[in-house]
Amino acid sequence: MNVIFFVSNNIHKFSEIKSILRDRTTDLTLNFYKRNIIEIQDDKIEKIAVQKAKSAYNIVKKPIIIEDDGLFINSLNGFPGQYSSFVFKSLGNRGILHLLEGSKDRTAFFKSIFVYNNGIITKGFTGQIKGKISSTITDGGWGYDPIFIPLYNKNINEKETFATLCKIDKKNEISHRKIALDKFVKWFHHYNK
Ligand code: IMP
Repeated sequence: MNVIFFVSNNIHKFSEIKSILRDRTTDLTLNFYKRNIIEIQDDKIEKIAVQKAKSAYNIVKKPIIIEDDGLFINSLNGFPGQYSSFVFKSLGNRGILHLLEGSKDRTAFFKSIFVYNNGIITKGFTGQIKGKISSTITDGGWGYDPIFIPLYNKNINEKETFATLCKIDKKNEISHRKIALDKFVKWFHHYNK
């Protein structure tokens, strides 16, 4: 069994990752290494994530994986994007809805990037899900879950936010996190053969 440390301050991410991995047969065990890694400032979350993975490896000195995310709102030119964490703490979901008042275009997407680093290689995996910002804040979930409506399946009522989908265990089947993590798991199997 291969042990990898997921280095993050965010327990929500870790529990979603655990739940996604539970449904797959893998030869890896993911342990939570609670730590806030200082992020560099850059326009691209990919660059931020690679640097974050290097810093995390230098702390743990064992194979690690980190995740960086962003919510990108099209009518706001991709804002909050790489500033999603800061904006959530400062403006919150109410602030985002306020910024979109009167806006016809509420489309957005969530992007996740996982970066694995074992001291020899550094490799990134991205996942993206399109959606739109709701006009009200729903109950449940965490972060921007209560205001993000994923567009993923024409047969399913696309009024459900990530927060309401969390309640019926659906978010982890479709999320940006799940898409990126699937790519990592697939690659890791081959890498370890
Ligand atoms: P970071 O990767 O920790 O910088 O995360 C960016 C921010 O995006 C987080 O602080 C959350 O507020 C938000 N976020 C990331 N992933 C999700 C998600 O799956 N649901 C809701 N909010 C998320």
